[in-house]
Amino acid sequence: MLKNMIIAIDGEASSGKSTQAKKVADYFGYSYLDSGAFYRAITLFFKKKGITTANRIDKNDLNKISLNSKYDDGKNSIYLNDEDVSNDIRSTDISEIVSDFAKEKTVREHVYRHLREFSENRSTVIDGRDIGTVVFPNADFKFFLYAKPEIRAKRRFSEINKDDINYDSVLDNLNYRDITDSTRKIAPLKKAYDAHSIDVSDLSIDQVFEKVLSIIEK
Ligand code: DC
Repeated sequence: MLKNMIIAIDGEASSGKSTQAKKVADYFGYSYLDSGAFYRAITLFFKKKGITTANRIDKNDLNKISLNSKYDDGKNSIYLNDEDVSNDIRSTDISEIVSDFAKEKTVREHVYRHLREFSENRSTVIDGRDIGTVVFPNADFKFFLYAKPEIRAKRRFSEINKDDINYDSVLDNLNYRDITDSTRKIAPLKKAYDAHSIDVSDLSIDQVFEKVLSIIEK
């Protein structure tokens, strides 16, 4: 039997990780997993209980959380205890507090378990912050995407509802998440020593994909 492949696409917030991971999954017919969506779903679970800071979570509650993901026809759906929360997890409210929840060791371990179980029996492309460094240190291919904050904020801003938010607050949130994600004690955002890093600042989606593909197919 052919070995299952794991392709890790890590990088900064809004650097285009999920776009590239989906393209790679589509191209090779692999499954796709968005690890950030799992942190968002856990954050949503606690927020619904009125808990908005990670230091107030009851660790036993984590055992009540099951996470699932389905990628079909370019559409990725995220399930929190069988409820489709794909839209809810993208709200500004969740984006503002998710980094705090993602700092918690127990939260991370819960996500790791789901990610590893999911990819046990299938080739998977996974995007995140610590996939190549911590979750799958033996991944077959590792990428690290990065870009200037202003460019990432501009791209994120063009994707969201402008009535909700302005460009400056998108940039502020991005800078805040970069700092929280890269300075936390556990599994900080950083490039794996054996990852291929790509500066996507001046590249189109297709140009980044060409680079990724040329490395995998080499
Ligand atoms: O990729 P995203 O913006 O949806 O991720 C949401 C948050 O989850 C991000 O601020 C940091 C955290 N995260 C993480 O700590 N580790 C991962 N592998 C993926 C995301």
